[in-house]
Amino acid sequence: MNLPQNGAIKPDLRVRLGDVEFKNPVLVASGTFGYGAEANQWCDISELGGVVTKSVSWKPRMGNPPHRIIETASGMLNSIGLANVGVQVFIKEKLPYLARFDTKIIANIAASSVEEYRDVLEHIEANAVPNLAGYEINISCPNVKDGGLSFGTSVERTEELTTLLRASTKRLLIMKLTPNVTSVAPFAQACERAGADAISLINTLVGMSIDIYTREPRLNTVTGGLSGPAIKPIALAQVYQARKACSLPIIGIGGIVTAEDAVEFLIAGASMVQVGTANFVYPDAGIRVAKGLEAYLQKQSIARVSDLVNSLRVKAELKAAGW
Ligand SMILES: Cc1cc2nc3c(=O)[nH]c(=O)nc-3n(C[C@H](O)[C@H](O)[C@H](O)COP(=O)(O)O)c2cc1C
Repeated sequence: MNLPQNGAIKPDLRVRLGDVEFKNPVLVASGTFGYGAEANQWCDISELGGVVTKSVSWKPRMGNPPHRIIETASGMLNSIGLANVGVQVFIKEKLPYLARFDTKIIANIAASSVEEYRDVLEHIEANAVPNLAGYEINISCPNVKDGGLSFGTSVERTEELTTLLRASTKRLLIMKLTPNVTSVAPFAQACERAGADAISLINTLVGMSIDIYTREPRLNTVTGGLSGPAIKPIALAQVYQARKACSLPIIGIGGIVTAEDAVEFLIAGASMVQVGTANFVYPDAGIRVAKGLEAYLQKQSIARVSDLVNSLRVKAELKAAGW
């Protein structure tokens, strides 16, 4: 549907995933916004579609020793190693803090066994706050030895875990996929078969940086996860491939800094987006993207953000050839 050209009507930014309505399609990505307390000094969190919290595990984790964040010429390399407060503190302090805001919370969970994933989820479920929309399951962290990628790079383990967690919650279940696989398609399809509500992608790409004078790796763990604008083209291609492979809603992540970046993800097939590394530069990056998206829609006379989703124009003969 198109708006009248005078721009008098405000475009509708609302997005629905399952039973949950988000005020706009812009979330902040796990691990890049903490639990909101720091960013709240500079912006109004309630203007975001939602906050995806730092991955939480059963016990608190110190994470990896420094250096665990390195800036490269083309993006950020991190090897945080899932440092987090553990589920007890998360429930006691972090969830109640975020419950004060008029936005949705998505609790991101990391674990090293299926049982740990389930226990953390059920513990949060039993202590849920009204604006807890659901869970994002991190099966894609490249910076830990156990858990993370060992799930996210096996289609069977992805399906098994999704099936198990599906039985533990009626809230949104979002599986966060890795780009560190040959094809994302079978993983998206496994999530769909197992009853996930959505998939989010991408997590970081395995990368490395070397100090040429000491010949030592610049990250303590040798390799880490690359994020930021450098990975946007890769993320877009993966969203497009996942879009073709399954009918689940997709949350696009990877290098989004501006509203125009977000628009590309929506056109490629994402229903929502997450803003990650950009938060380290502008703590209000997600809000800027949401506002810019509204301005873009108004300027283009597009009535609803959902009208953009999966609107990529690919020539029929290319589609038929599998592109
Ligand atoms: C410092 C840092 C910490 C992160 N921690 C997590 C995490 O705990 N859980 C998770 O699922 N993703 C984590 N991520 C990945 C981001 O959520 C996101 O998927 C990735 O950075 C790509 O988006 P971006 O290019 O916009 O940053 C982290 C990323 C960064 C840069």
